[in-house]
Amino acid sequence: GPRGPVLGLESSCDETAAAVLAPDGRILAEAVLSQEREHAVFGGVVPEIAARAHLAALPGLTERVLARAGLGFWDLAGVAATSGPGLIGGLIVGACFGKGVAIAHGLPFVAVNHLEAHALTARLPGLLESGAPAFPYLLLLVSGGHCQCVAVEGLGRYRRLGSTLDDAVGEAFDKAAKLLGLPWPGGPHLERLAAQGDARAVPLPRPLLGRPGCDFSFSGLKTAVARAVAQGAASPADIAASFQASVAAVLADRARHALEMLPDATGIVVAGGVAANGAVRAALTGVAGMAGVPMLAPPLRYCTDNAVMVAWAGIERLRAGLADPLGHNPRPRWPL
Ligand code: KG4
Ligand code: ZN
Repeated sequence: GPRGPVLGLESSCDETAAAVLAPDGRILAEAVLSQEREHAVFGGVVPEIAARAHLAALPGLTERVLARAGLGFWDLAGVAATSGPGLIGGLIVGACFGKGVAIAHGLPFVAVNHLEAHALTARLPGLLESGAPAFPYLLLLVSGGHCQCVAVEGLGRYRRLGSTLDDAVGEAFDKAAKLLGLPWPGGPHLERLAAQGDARAVPLPRPLLGRPGCDFSFSGLKTAVARAVAQGAASPADIAASFQASVAAVLADRARHALEMLPDATGIVVAGGVAANGAVRAALTGVAGMAGVPMLAPPLRYCTDNAVMVAWAGIERLRAGLADPLGHNPRPRWPL
């Protein structure tokens, strides 16, 4: 494995992030810079703006993170950069910057799959009170860009059990929030509004609930929200609460099926921004409890996009002798 600190870089969506980890996984320094303000006026992430913002921010952010760790580039033993899936402009920025550092200092380079980084986060030493979960465990990735159930069976051994047929669940939250007149990204605003509403007030569909497998679908739910808003009979708070209850019920049902598909799972690990949602967390905790396995939720800032998870995936890969050639190109689509 690496004999010194490893630099991790994340730039696949709208967070610019850098982190330095000791070879044993200890976090030496980290920083995340959100571009939310730049994209909010457009109501979503604009790829070109994201790429340019990563380009402007990443080198300085990396220098600050290294300085905070009391290190220089020459102290590093490896570089890991997210190389997909994600927005290609940002991926190119992060991968090229990482390769530049690797070339200048003769370091191994790891092209990290963003989904693998989310999947391995729970194994970061000291992150979970209960300790790192043993393989296999169920990863429920619920963010603005991803929505899938993954069997994590070992390093490099992932099986996608189900995924969304249309929108990611965070996207569904954002679209429903927009219909309710809330600012982007709408998930947290919708949760706050839902707290004042009655979850039984508006009958909304629960797509795929009870169906075999663990795929997801949210477009029908979004259409139903649009209809409820247009009819004007229900209050926004009641619509928000009912929407959130539908999503939580669907996620719980899908997770329950996923656990049936992975009967020796040692736990459910959640990742992605939607893991912040209280109703979703409660529903998933219930499912885990019924199945007799722990629900493992890393602290929120390691559920959302960050560079600590990228550096950690890099360390795991370097320990397994899995560095990548500098000719490795970023991939906007890169299934696990
Ligand atoms: O993982 P993340 O920060 O970024 C990526 O999508 O990669 O997830 C962001 C998504 C957004 O769609 C946001 O609305 C949603 O997570 N989200 C929430 C909550 N906080 C963030 N959705 C529901 N309830 C929340 N409290
Ligand atoms: Zn992510």
